[in-house]
Amino acid sequence: MSSVVRPSSTVTGTFVLSVFTAVLGSLEFGYNIGVINAPQKMIEQDYNATWLQRYGEPIPSGTLTSLWSLSVAIFSIGGMLSMGFRVRMCNIFSRRKAMLINNLFAFIGGSLMALSKLCRSFEMMILGRFIIGAYCGLASGLTPMYVGEIAPTSLRGALGTLHQLAIVTGILIAQILGLEVLLGSQELWPVLLGLTVVPTVLQMSFLPFCPESPRFLYIVRCQEHQAKRGLRRLTGRQEVGDMLAEMKEEKRKMEMERKVSILELFRSPLYRQPIIISILLQLSQQLSGINAIFYYSTSIFIKAGVQSPVYATIGAGVINCAFTVVSLFLIERMGRRTLHMLGLGGMCICAVIMTMALALLDSVPWMSYICMLSIFGFVAFFEVGPGPIPWFFVAELFSQGPRPAAMAVAGFSNWTANFIIGMGFQYVADLCGPYVFLIFAVLLLFFLIFTFFRVPETRGKTFDQIAANFNERSVGGMMDMDMDMDLDKPSTELDYLGEESIN
Ligand SMILES: *[C@@H]1O[C@H](CO)[C@@H](O)[C@H](O)[C@H]1NC(C)=O
Repeated sequence: MSSVVRPSSTVTGTFVLSVFTAVLGSLEFGYNIGVINAPQKMIEQDYNATWLQRYGEPIPSGTLTSLWSLSVAIFSIGGMLSMGFRVRMCNIFSRRKAMLINNLFAFIGGSLMALSKLCRSFEMMILGRFIIGAYCGLASGLTPMYVGEIAPTSLRGALGTLHQLAIVTGILIAQILGLEVLLGSQELWPVLLGLTVVPTVLQMSFLPFCPESPRFLYIVRCQEHQAKRGLRRLTGRQEVGDMLAEMKEEKRKMEMERKVSILELFRSPLYRQPIIISILLQLSQQLSGINAIFYYSTSIFIKAGVQSPVYATIGAGVINCAFTVVSLFLIERMGRRTLHMLGLGGMCICAVIMTMALALLDSVPWMSYICMLSIFGFVAFFEVGPGPIPWFFVAELFSQGPRPAAMAVAGFSNWTANFIIGMGFQYVADLCGPYVFLIFAVLLLFFLIFTFFRVPETRGKTFDQIAANFNERSVGGMMDMDMDMDLDKPSTELDYLGEESIN
């Protein structure tokens, strides 16, 4: 995208510190996805004990399932709601201040969860999960935004993947610390949940040393002088005129395109098809059943008769990390649509194998290994396709004007589906027994067919070419304004998030 020839940019200590500090937010996001998995049984026992103490009778098992599912899923409600005030927050506060304020949520949420056992209150636990969800919703926007804005253009794509990597690393850390010999025990689970404040404290103490995003200062606040100072600190160079020129160009392009509201997105025939595709791709990510694995894998492994379920969960976490790295290389080389279909197809096959293995478990004991392997495959295929790809599509199907609205709709669909899985899985699993993953297999097949027939390849195409693909009936004037953005450079979620606040 950059036409400016610039001397090789050096990576300064300030820059590394700033990226590290921001990425702590993604790490915490991942940690809170993975953390409630291993100690499920312990926490349930404590809910039971609390109930017994309060009402003099053991908790009815239906009530326990509801309370636990709510504790898991309310996280997504927090995330969903915080999407709503993210844009507003970014208009009022600078990036750094927004991150600082967001840390308060993590602090409150973490403390509530950590103290819930001591106070014998599952309400505190549920409220804590809600607040930490709100933190994660904000952090999942702020981190890529800040990193994308301070990164030099040449490094932006690579650094954008750090967000994804930090999330899967956070999940893995939570799974390892959740081992019963570490923190996953009856006494120590509050510490496990409370540890989420550690990255918060780190981030709060490092943030004062990180410069404010120069792109934000210049493009949104029009503070050229401060932007220059930030650039100097980040690059360690005195002469930053070329970067400023680049930002000027970006600002000009941004002002050329009219902002599109969410309502228009659905009304205009120009956008209707792309937005439906974006929503369905987000749903394909969540309804693939991946979070059923990340929230509930330990109890799935127990049912599958795996010897050490927690180690199997950690194995899934390791596979998850490894294939996130693999997919970084694949995304550069293969088409988005191909990868998405490969991922969905692979997950579908793994789900079918898993179901058969679970059904045969009673007669064929070694099926528990097949079950474990198919879960590993399921996770691996997720990271190849449905994990990263839907975000690419939203960024690439929409040009600058409609992109913020499209991203909000996509994010909302994603969190909603996440909630449905977190809330409903345990019930459906109790109801269907070993056949629960067949439901996901059917959904995956549906999304595979949908992708095959409806989703265009976007890699390396301009918005004009993609729009022509949709064969739209009415040709509005809006598409004429598309600049020929160079889509060879993968535009990542972060690219687009960086622009979300600029309105
Ligand atoms: C709750 O605890 C009681 C007594 O400790 C036990 O008998 C009962 O099975 C437990 N209920 C559930 C749903 O775990």
